[in-house]
Amino acid sequence: MKYTALCYVFLLFLLPYVASYRYLKLALQWPTGVCANRKCVKNTHRTDFGIHGLWPQNRIGYPFKCTNSALNLTLINNLIPGLTTSWSSLFFQQDSVFWSHEWSEHGTCSEHVLDQHAYFQLALNMKNFADLPGALTRANIRPSNTTLYNTARFSAAIKGQISINATPELTCANPTVLTEVRLCLIYNGTSFINCPYAGNCLRNPTVRFLQPPT
Ligand SMILES: *[C@@H]1O[C@H](CO)[C@@H](O)[C@H](O)[C@H]1NC(C)=O
Ligand SMILES: *[C@@H]1O[C@H](CO)[C@@H](O)[C@H](O)[C@H]1NC(C)=O
Ligand SMILES: *[C@@H]1O[C@H](CO)[C@@H](O)[C@H](O)[C@H]1NC(C)=O
Repeated sequence: MKYTALCYVFLLFLLPYVASYRYLKLALQWPTGVCANRKCVKNTHRTDFGIHGLWPQNRIGYPFKCTNSALNLTLINNLIPGLTTSWSSLFFQQDSVFWSHEWSEHGTCSEHVLDQHAYFQLALNMKNFADLPGALTRANIRPSNTTLYNTARFSAAIKGQISINATPELTCANPTVLTEVRLCLIYNGTSFINCPYAGNCLRNPTVRFLQPPT
């Protein structure tokens, strides 16, 4: 009995280190939605989505903190201007604190496929390629504090974007304010795939896409 318990404890510690992953999730946050519920220190007037993270996923749950590899800014030096624009923190003054956190928590779990430079480059490339603002504008979905958008239509507008062509996951808070659009990618990041979970916004018939302060 004691021995079995010990085995489980041992396995629990071992698990994060041997964990692999099945696919990637690119989480893009809508600052006005996020900041409506939590106090943001910057980017509160931003009119584009920003990257929250690129997360290796399993069928159920996700591996995290897979190795103790630390982010080395020298290795991603040429990406820093792009990251400062597109992967800027809402809660930390210093963006590199956010990048380090995301790398340690998530990036270390895909380092055997994507090294530090490839990981950050992929997130930037796929955010730009997806062009969420373009997808929504073309579907006539604009940020508004008064309009309620049909949730299925919102999701379909993203799926309908030729560069994406895959079902996104929509995350809401409070409970119908859109906070994130998450796009799923095959494990090496080369193409989008349907996300296995539609996200909690789909529990409600409508979603609010809040307008940044003017
Ligand atoms: C960061 O990477 C550079 C370039 O490869 C290397 O020279 C430096 O030693 C690394 N720094 C750390 C703390 O590992
Ligand atoms: C990515 O994975 C897909 C599916 O396994 C494969 O067809 C493709 O060649 C891979 N691309 C790269 C650049 O590794
Ligand atoms: C829309 O609502 C959000 C959240 O309450 C607020 O921060 C923002 O200033 C509002 N936008 C406009 C244009 O009033």
